[in-house]
Amino acid sequence: MRQDILDYLLAHQGEFISGQHISEALGISRTAVWKHIRVLKARGYSIESYTKRGYCLREAPELIVPKEIMEQPGTAVFGKRVEYVERIDSTNNYAKKLADAGAPEGTLVIAEEQTGGRGRLNRSFLSPYAQGLWFSLILRPHVSPLEVSKLTLLAAVAVTQVLRKAGLIDCGIKWPNDVLVNGKKVVGILTELNASVEQINYVVMGIGINTGIQKKKIPRDLKKIVTSFAIENVDVKRNELLKEILVAFERLYFTVAEQGFTSVLEEWKRLSCMLGKEVEVSSIDRVFKGKAVDLDECGNLLVETSAGMERVLAGDIHVRSVE
Ligand code: BTN
Repeated sequence: MRQDILDYLLAHQGEFISGQHISEALGISRTAVWKHIRVLKARGYSIESYTKRGYCLREAPELIVPKEIMEQPGTAVFGKRVEYVERIDSTNNYAKKLADAGAPEGTLVIAEEQTGGRGRLNRSFLSPYAQGLWFSLILRPHVSPLEVSKLTLLAAVAVTQVLRKAGLIDCGIKWPNDVLVNGKKVVGILTELNASVEQINYVVMGIGINTGIQKKKIPRDLKKIVTSFAIENVDVKRNELLKEILVAFERLYFTVAEQGFTSVLEEWKRLSCMLGKEVEVSSIDRVFKGKAVDLDECGNLLVETSAGMERVLAGDIHVRSVE
């Protein structure tokens, strides 16, 4: 029914139509019309409403067009199969099910909204309708399970390159998996692995990019640490951004498979917003401070402390910049 109301408003975009008119045309109560319109507004549809005039759809959010993604010529593998859903708990969960059932490398799962978006360290990840790119890619790399953290760094490099080109010129990577603008997170990456001791069955690379989220929609406790393209006043088209990320990611992924990881590591360092800064590292059993100075050849973070050099492995660990 909500889709019927939306179609009706879209067919009359820019005109005011009364609630009475819509309810008669679609055979539902005026209260039901009002409730559906409230949901559409929360999903980013700009609908004006006045008691005497009714409703007027001014602007609709840009939705993902799977065909456009699949048919773009810049990739040979990534995004050639697309599973598009309006609403799901987590695209990573769905991608894992598809991968278990044999979905090929490059399969893309993308949702307009996640109701249970997940981040590292079991944190939840805000994923409102059409206000970001919430997607997961299935990868089947021929590398040791020990090397999987390199893939997260690789994804962060590809995404950061594209975001800078798209106008977030000051964004940089915070080890291991966040992209920040002015110290606030605009991208999170969650890499999940299914492997035996000696080989990877698949990797699900989940990426969340805040595009349209407005400041007022961010929960109070996150306001100081989360940002979006909209908050940074940069216009972006989600379909274009997604296509460019797939192209950049696929190019780096196959370059590393042929030539090794060194060039990505160098590019990661160039794009980092963390190297050279004081950090605090906390894991379950200890906390220490030091200066983030480099990455080793495996992508682990090297932190210089008063007691010597510490090597920090991604995992159940939290690293934050300290002033
Ligand atoms: C983090 O910030 O720690 C990582 C966040 C990763 C979020 C993305 S959104 C698409 C995919 N599905 C999820 O549930 N999580 C990832």
